[in-house]
Amino acid sequence: MYNKSHFNSGHRAMNWLNKNNIAHSSDVNFEIPQKTRHGLYVRDALDVLKELPSSSVQLVLLDPPYNLELDKWDKYSDYISWAKPWLSEAQRVVSDNGNIVIFGGFQFQSEKSGDLLEIMHYLRHNTDLLFVNLITWYYPNGMSAHRFFANRHEEIAWYGKTKKYYFGLDAVRIPFDEKTKEMYKRDKRLNPESIDKGKNPTNVWQIGRLNGNSLERVGHTTQKPVELVRRLVRSLSYPGSIVLDFFAGSGTTGRVCIEEDRHSILVDNDPKIREYLTAHLENMKKTGVEKQYDVLENENIADFLIKVSNKKPQSEVTNVVLNRS
Ligand SMILES: C[S@@+](CC[C@H](N)C(=O)[O-])C[C@H]1O[C@@H](n2cnc3c(N)ncnc32)[C@H](O)[C@@H]1O
Repeated sequence: MYNKSHFNSGHRAMNWLNKNNIAHSSDVNFEIPQKTRHGLYVRDALDVLKELPSSSVQLVLLDPPYNLELDKWDKYSDYISWAKPWLSEAQRVVSDNGNIVIFGGFQFQSEKSGDLLEIMHYLRHNTDLLFVNLITWYYPNGMSAHRFFANRHEEIAWYGKTKKYYFGLDAVRIPFDEKTKEMYKRDKRLNPESIDKGKNPTNVWQIGRLNGNSLERVGHTTQKPVELVRRLVRSLSYPGSIVLDFFAGSGTTGRVCIEEDRHSILVDNDPKIREYLTAHLENMKKTGVEKQYDVLENENIADFLIKVSNKKPQSEVTNVVLNRS
């Protein structure tokens, strides 16, 4: 059977652009910042969101409570009513070429008061967000089961704000092994440059869950693996851009953003995020990563955005103008 994507006009257009060395309209020229900044807010997500200007962040990366009663913050009698306000704010604050990703699972035996399915249904029928992919996070390690098939996956729903959503595929391609490379290079129909770049990781990602004794663990009940978050940050944002995570948990997103030269805004209403984040940064150091960064706690949002954009504060701009006259 034919692979339908070969007849997809978007796919053909992308091939044509690549062949003719023409950039896609979503391409971005970025510079790697010498130092990144990470705003830490120990506050309620909605309160911080209301202070963020529209179109101010590149990626909204969300791992919200799944409503599984795994912790004190993980139980909602009406999940979607709770989620609606932050979903609408996420759409407002993301930039026109920006992305939103939302973690969840619908394979759990919940009391049906809501999960990612409701979120996806709501977004489809009530917003202009563009549903791009449902990524399956597949993990070979997990709990056993007797009355149903043991669960081995969770979902990540990816939405673009507009059709110009940024997608840095090259940053997450998986290299072919030498033998496969040689074989593909003999096939004259294939572009040798694409073979060197590696393959598309597809929308099924095999990344192990963090076991209890994982060295990456910092103490948070539902901490996500660094490699999982890294693939999202690398492909859906670019160096120097801002990643917002307003259910930051332990701050995994912050650690990844430091390593990947992005700025971040981390929000969690549990003060323990401070100690979790410190542990993340110690783990990062142990792996030999040395980056310049500032963690700024409770910095005024407007000041934070000015620092990140390397613009002069309004008062200094006014001074310059006054001095000239
Ligand atoms: C699933 S965990 C995120 C885990 C994170 N991805 C990590 O790797 O550590 C969800 C987090 O949302 C936080 N949370 C729940 N409701 C919140 C709210 N209204 N405002 C801010 N944070 C909230 C909880 O404290 C919890 O840490």
